[in-house]
This record gives sequence, C-alpha cells and structure tokens, in this order.
Amino acid sequence: MNTPAAHPRDPAGARPAPLPFSVAFDARDEAELLGLWRDILRSNRWSDGEHTRAFEAAWASETGLEAVAFNNWAGGALAALDFVGVAGETVLSPSNTFLATPRSAQKSGASVVFYDCNREDLCGSFADFVERAERHRPKAAWIVHVGGHIAFDIERIAAYCRDKGIWLIEDCAHAHGARWKGRAAGSFGDAGIYSFYPTKTISTGEGGMLVTANPDLARHARSYRDYGRGSGYTVQGMNHRIDEFTAAMGVVQTRRLADIVAWKRAYARDVLDPAYPHRLRLPEGMESGFYKYIVFEPIERGAGKVYELPCHRIVKDPAELPNTDWVAANHWCVPIHYPRRLD
Ligand SMILES: Cc1ncc(COP(=O)(O)O)c(C=O)c1O
Repeated sequence: MNTPAAHPRDPAGARPAPLPFSVAFDARDEAELLGLWRDILRSNRWSDGEHTRAFEAAWASETGLEAVAFNNWAGGALAALDFVGVAGETVLSPSNTFLATPRSAQKSGASVVFYDCNREDLCGSFADFVERAERHRPKAAWIVHVGGHIAFDIERIAAYCRDKGIWLIEDCAHAHGARWKGRAAGSFGDAGIYSFYPTKTISTGEGGMLVTANPDLARHARSYRDYGRGSGYTVQGMNHRIDEFTAAMGVVQTRRLADIVAWKRAYARDVLDPAYPHRLRLPEGMESGFYKYIVFEPIERGAGKVYELPCHRIVKDPAELPNTDWVAANHWCVPIHYPRRLD
C-alpha cells in the first residue's frame, strides 16, 4: 500500500525525495475503463452518447452546477465568451496564468487588460481588479484559481462583478476538487471551465468541462460545441464535441477524484508541510485540490514553477504588475504527483 507516510526521504534526510511525474490514473480503474472502451467499440455510438451524459452528470454532482463537456478547456472558454458577446469589448485577465486564458479572449475578438495578483495566493488581486475595471469598463473578466486552491479574493471579486454587471468566468483548469467554505470552483462567477489535460489533477488525455448555474449559458454552450445545432444554427460554434471514449474515461476518473485529492492533501499535510515552512498558506475554510504545492524558496529537484513567465511579459504588454513579477521570481513547486500504482 502506497501511503504518504511511507514515502522515502532523500539521502540527506531533511526533505522528502521528489516524486516523479505521473499522469494521475489509478491502476484499480484499468479493468473497468477497458471494459467501457470495449462496449463503446462494439456500439455504434462513438460520440455524443450515454458516456458524455454520464461524465456531465458526474461533474455536475462534483460541483453542484450544470456541466457541459468539451474536447478541451479552450472549447468551453470560447463558448462562454461567445455567450457573453465579448467581440469588440474589453476583458480583464490575470497575467499570472497560462496564455490560454488571455488568448481565449483575444480569439473571441476582445481586447485584454491584464490585472495583478496577490503574492499570498498567486491569484487575482481584488484591489487591482477594481482599479482596472473602473478604468477600462470591461464586459467580462477571467479569474484563475492558480495551483489548486480557490482565489482568496473570489468572493469580493464576484460580488463586485455582480454589482457592476461584469460577467465573471472562472478558469478552473487547476481547481479539481477544490472547495472554499464548501463551494466548488466555478460556482462563484457566471461560469467555470475545467481542463483534463494530462498534467491536471485528473485527466482524460484531452478534455474540458464548462459548469454554470445559468441555464441559458449552458444551452448556448451545448449548441456552440456542435456547430450551433439545436439553435437553428444561430449560435456560431464549431466542433468542440467530446468523444465517447474520452467521456468514459472522464466518468472513471471523476469517481476516483476524491481519492486522488485525499491522497494529495494527506501527502501535503504529513510529508511536505513539516519540511517546507516557507509554503503558501491556506486560509481557514480553504480546501485545496493541490494541483501544485507552492513554496516561496528555491528548491533543488523541484517541479519548476507554475508559470515561469507572466503572460504580459510573453506578449510584451507594458502593464505594470509588480506582484505578478514578484511571484514569477519567488515561487517554486514541490512535486505532488499521485503515484501511478497502488499495489
Ligand atoms: C490555467 C489554465 N487555463 C487553461 C488551460 C488550457 O487547457 P486545455 O489544454 O485543456 O485547453 C490550462 C492548461 O492546460 C491552464 O493551466
């Protein structure tokens, strides 16, 4: 049995030996998944079938929101931004994120204004959000739950957006299993988009999921992923459907999510916390999914950084974002990968 407590220390003894990267897949699920794939192979329904519905139902129950499956995060992001209608408008985006976040807005015809993060949580800063929103009057905004916890300022940013009529979309690519006072990522703004890329807390190879409490947005997203079908082709979507093999994997992986997150929390608490005093500190009521384990000290044989270079630096935007630059220079990740085999 592979338990966090049984994890070996490195020869120096001071710190745990770094875990090798592995895609999170539990060997106990292999037979079931292969059985599902065989059933699909023998069926005549390889797309848009019962496994897609089951994956959506599983993610709806995980988050408490309606869920619409996509072939990747990007499809869900474009669908949400299309529903809002951001073409020709301004969209706020943090710079401390993967380029996918601002690029989705640019591809949707919006101009992007970057805002700063907090040093404590690496996520969007309420004060800077408000300052830039007052100045640039955005129609929509992204917030990113960087690293597996929910952005510490999410409630204040969501309340401000509700008050000002700004659509708030949550990038939940890192936030599988995260909870803030019991609420899942994606439940604070108007929609949330998850990714199931192989580095993520659970993966389907490629895959994405849009979650929302807004039935009109969900209907639009279903139509968007299928060239506008179901809307009389008024929704100008493309093909972002998920296939049944991927969806079946999503069902199996979602069922395993609680175990994976529980393992990561135990590994963080029992193995890493005692060894890393300069770690990111979570507030009371925050349950991280520990996509990453973040420390504010250089470490040897680590897992690099969440992001080496902020987006505003990549795209050479002149915005001044001191905390974002500070974070890029001063955080590191300790490997926290769910072990492949649990023999
Ligand atoms: C914060 C963030 N947003 C968006 C994405 C894009 O997701 P996908 O690769 O599923 O399109 C990723 C990573 O893959 C990410 O880390």
